[in-house]
Amino acid sequence: MVNLFRKHSRVDNNSIHNGVKLITVAQPKSVIAEQFRTIRTNISFMGIDRPIKSLAFTSANVSEGKSTVAANIAVVWANTGKRVLLIDADLRRPTLHKTFNLSNQVGLTSILTADEETVDITSMVRGTDVNNLSVITSGPIPPNPAELLNSKRMRSLLNAVRNAFDVVILDVPPLLEVSDTQALISQLDGVVLVVKVGQTQKIAAKRAVELTKLSKARLLGYVMNDVGRGGDSAYGYGYGYGYGYGYGYGYSTDNK
Ligand SMILES: Nc1ncnc2c1ncn2[C@@H]1O[C@H](COP(=O)(O)OP(=O)(O)O)[C@@H](O)[C@H]1O
Ligand SMILES: [Mg+2]
Repeated sequence: MVNLFRKHSRVDNNSIHNGVKLITVAQPKSVIAEQFRTIRTNISFMGIDRPIKSLAFTSANVSEGKSTVAANIAVVWANTGKRVLLIDADLRRPTLHKTFNLSNQVGLTSILTADEETVDITSMVRGTDVNNLSVITSGPIPPNPAELLNSKRMRSLLNAVRNAFDVVILDVPPLLEVSDTQALISQLDGVVLVVKVGQTQKIAAKRAVELTKLSKARLLGYVMNDVGRGGDSAYGYGYGYGYGYGYGYGYSTDNK
C-alpha cells in the first residue's frame, strides 16, 4: 500500500541537513510571507467557537512541506504578539534545531524519557531570534518514536505547554508512513494537512483525510504547497489554503 502512495514522491532531505527556509523572517514583506499570514488568520477563524490552542501540521507522506509550513506559520503567529511554542514531534526526520540553529542534545525525547518528578521542562524550551517564539527540538532520536508520542507523558506535556503558551504548534510525522501521528493529532484542537501540488497523489490525500477522521482529529483545512508551478524558479513558493473535508481538492496530480 505505502509503496503505491510513494510512487511519485521525490524525497528531499535538504531540510534535515539545513533546516527549512524561514521566508517569513528573511522577507517578511514578501507575497509568500503575506500568504502565511492569511493562512494563520484563516486557521484562527476556525477557532471562533472553540479556540485553537494546539494544532499540528501533517501530510500524507514525507517531504511535502510540513516543517516549512509549520515553522513559517509559527513565526507569523508569534509576530502577532501571541506566545507561540513550536514542537518538533517528527522524531524520524527532525528539522527544527537546524532551522533555528540550536543544538539538539536535549529536546522532546529528553522530556518524555526523563523522570517525570524531576524533569525541568522549562530548560528544554528554547528561545529563538523571533520575539514570542519558543521551540522544543526533537532531542536525540529514539528507537521507539511511536511509543513516545503516544505516551501518557506526551499528553501531560501537551497539557502543561497549552497552559503556558497561547498557541502550541506541532510538526508531526506524515500520516501514511507511520502510526504515531493519528493518536497524537486526536489530542490537539486541530490538524492542518499540507498537500504538495504535483506531488501528493490524490489517493494519498484522500487516505490522509480519512485517517484524520478515523483518529477523530479536527481537520481544520489544508495548505497547498505549490512548489515551482508555472515555470517559476526552483523556489517558486506559493501557498494556497482551503477548508473543508471534501475530497474534491482543487489540485491535480495528473500532470506528473
Ligand atoms: N514551496 C516550496 N518551494 C520550494 N521548495 C520547498 C517548498 N516547500 C518545501 N520545500 C522544500 O522541500 C523540502 C521538504 O520540505 P519540508 O518542509 O522539510 O517537508 P516535510 O517536513 O514535509 O518533510 C525542503 O528541502 C524544503 O526546503
Ligand atoms: Mg519535516
